[in-house]
Amino acid sequence: MTSQQIRSEFLRFFEARGHRVVPSHGLIPPADPTLLFVNAGMVQFKDVFTGRRDPGYRRATTTQKCLRVSGKHNDLEQVGRTPRHHTFFEMLGNFSFGDYFKAEACRFAWDLLTGVYGLDPKDLWVTVHPDDDEARTIWTRDVGVAPDRVLADPSNFWSMGDTGPCGPCSEIHIDRGPSYPGVSMADPGHRFMELWNLVFMQYDRDGEGRLTPLPAPSIDTGMGLERICSVIQGVRSNYETDLFRPLMDRAAALAGTAYGRDEEGDTALRVIADHARATAFLIADGIYPENEGRGYVLRRLMRRALRFGHKMGLRQPFFTEVVLAVEAVMGEAWPELAAHREVIRKVAAQEEDRFLRTLASGMEMLEQAIGRVRESGSQRLDGETVFTLYDTHGFPADLTALVAEEHGLGIDEEGFAARMEQQRERGRASWKGAAEDLAPVVEECRARGWTSAFVGHDWDEGTGQEVPSTIRGIFADGVPVEEAREGQSVILVVSETPFYGESGGQVGDRGRIRGEGVRVQVQDTRRPQEDLILHLGHVEAGSLRIGDRVLLAPDPARRRTRRNHSATHLLHRALREVLGGHVRQRGSLVTPDRLRFDFSHPGPMTPEELRAVEDHVQRAIFDDLPVTTEVLPLQEAVDRGALHFFGDKYGDVVRMVRMGESRELCGGTHVRRTGEIGVFVILSEGGISAGVRRIEALTGEAAVEWLRQRADWIGRLSEALKVDGPGILDRVQRLLAEEKALRKEVSELKVKAAAGASGTGGSGGVREVGGIRVQVASADGVDPKAARDLADTLRERLGSGIVLLTRVDGDRLAVMLAVTKNLSDRYPAGRVLQAVLSPLEGRGGGNPLLAQGSVPDREGAARVLDALLRHLSS
Ligand code: ALA
Repeated sequence: MTSQQIRSEFLRFFEARGHRVVPSHGLIPPADPTLLFVNAGMVQFKDVFTGRRDPGYRRATTTQKCLRVSGKHNDLEQVGRTPRHHTFFEMLGNFSFGDYFKAEACRFAWDLLTGVYGLDPKDLWVTVHPDDDEARTIWTRDVGVAPDRVLADPSNFWSMGDTGPCGPCSEIHIDRGPSYPGVSMADPGHRFMELWNLVFMQYDRDGEGRLTPLPAPSIDTGMGLERICSVIQGVRSNYETDLFRPLMDRAAALAGTAYGRDEEGDTALRVIADHARATAFLIADGIYPENEGRGYVLRRLMRRALRFGHKMGLRQPFFTEVVLAVEAVMGEAWPELAAHREVIRKVAAQEEDRFLRTLASGMEMLEQAIGRVRESGSQRLDGETVFTLYDTHGFPADLTALVAEEHGLGIDEEGFAARMEQQRERGRASWKGAAEDLAPVVEECRARGWTSAFVGHDWDEGTGQEVPSTIRGIFADGVPVEEAREGQSVILVVSETPFYGESGGQVGDRGRIRGEGVRVQVQDTRRPQEDLILHLGHVEAGSLRIGDRVLLAPDPARRRTRRNHSATHLLHRALREVLGGHVRQRGSLVTPDRLRFDFSHPGPMTPEELRAVEDHVQRAIFDDLPVTTEVLPLQEAVDRGALHFFGDKYGDVVRMVRMGESRELCGGTHVRRTGEIGVFVILSEGGISAGVRRIEALTGEAAVEWLRQRADWIGRLSEALKVDGPGILDRVQRLLAEEKALRKEVSELKVKAAAGASGTGGSGGVREVGGIRVQVASADGVDPKAARDLADTLRERLGSGIVLLTRVDGDRLAVMLAVTKNLSDRYPAGRVLQAVLSPLEGRGGGNPLLAQGSVPDREGAARVLDALLRHLSS
């Protein structure tokens, strides 16, 4: 059976037994801050197990894309060195949500393995949790497994992570026979191998480790496709299955070798094949190489593969080829590989290029360092060197360790960690700055129970209406006080406020707070916590006490901020529409004046794409779509397609903002209808880091003003040129071409004039000193290249002698000396020029035939000539 058949037989088997075939979830977990990547089939059903979500079916089956790089389920360093460790893999699974339980789960698994896949029951072993007599009985009595083939294993308890659904489990193992190293289930070697894990989901574990029973006992199973393929296809290692073999062969061909020659090369090929799969799938899911988070995992994987390739002698780009070969192997089951082929190619190639360059320079430095360490007789590479390699060459510590290891050296991990921590501290100190100053204020508010409610979403600034509220807390110069007086800098907490506190990329509001005889100017608003909004301002007149009633009015600039914020949502949507679903928001800045939107995309946008995006947004504005907000559970919002900012933490309940097709989780303030945005123009598009682009844009009055200014410039241009509209460009191009031709002509004329003048005397002329003819000429206004040509011409014409050509160049006088061949031994141009210029505070040099330099005196031609003649006569 091919891997494709093994996969589809699995799904068919369970479909025939009432299971819904559910598509794999992407590698990015569904709004789950506890997980970096989806690492098991059950992840997308987490909330179904706990009863928070009802999917509308009670049995499901999937093949789930998984990635494990660290933690209790995997260890990256092992990948490639063993027959069955992987980063990316597919987990085949069947699930029951409060439907069937242990008996059916065991039966199904056994029937599929022995029936459909044709495994010999005599080769199979089973483990159960020591306390799980029920499972033991099911295996021996119902399924008919020999009692001595059912072993108790206290590690048979599975959980997804530190929290979440969990329960005892039962595993099916296979004995691959005496040709594999290993003796028994107690000493398994590679002979005994776990095939399938059946988890009897019974509890939900909370942050403190407490277990609460799930609403109903459930089933979660997982079998690695790669393993079952190795068994069915009768190969010794997962890497020899049809899932990996073509990838390893591709890499081997590029390196001019073959799989199976030597262990070191084979390890490298396995690493490359494994990481190529992970790379293809990560990029297809919108993850790009970056220096943190998920993108960093991708970067590390790519670099590890490239490093192993380097070790095999691959010096030219190769990895992208292997990454693209994944499509031929898995494209049928995973259409995203074909759909994102170009993005995968671009992103992988870019990172590969970049790293190969780093590798070359870093390797040199590393090898020198290794040499030094060895000479000194030490066994370890110091932390400082490891850090420098990381910091300036982007050489991750694990790579450095790998190279050091090859030379029999370790690395000083503590020293490195200490240097990293130092750097992190510095980073933290520099960017937190201002926000950090508020920490004591926030602490104090928390202690005193001062909170505030945001009422700005529904507040209509169009009417200029003020919002009544009560002063809850006052800080004057950072200290809590009962009363603040005129002239003091204050931070105010009020019960309800329409002021938007800076968060989510939208800047905070400014405005005014007034009460009985008191006026406060608010310069900034912050929202350090969900329920705390701080108004930073200045008491302009009167005084203010806790408990005072006040009226709040944010500055109308906020209207413009809202427009810009809503426009970012439309822009995000338009980018995904025009460029593809790989586009993800990476950051944004929304101010009253402009908006900035950062997003993932591998290369520059074309002018056509930019125009299409602009059109898209503008059309949504013309359609005057209503903007609605809804508060709902996070999972529901995600299920309904709400885009969220990956990596952000959200509460259980979120606010979803909708306008037309756009749905985003967002706490910011928005227009009520898209028509209010008015006009949208893109000012610029450019790259800010690998795979991340930035668009800057304007809306409303600012956009109109910008367009008007341009129209005005064009109007004036057309007046000056005396042509209308479309003819302007033609006209300007013609003028530029003419100007270029004229410049050239002028330069040529000047050359001629200079050459002519030198023939007939004039400012130039030929002198003779000690039998050497010296041709003097000036080439003012001639460009440097033409001047060089002129020097050549004059030298040729002279036959034997020296040419001195001067040319005014800004404040300086450029000097050129050309010597005919027959004299260049006696008077090498470079040396003569140096001798002539040095007393004149000039500088210059060149070869024996031609030298160039300058002196800081644009009128010094006569002095230069004098100096030359003196030098020749001495
Ligand atoms: N969720 C279980 C596992 O990953 C099946 O092993």
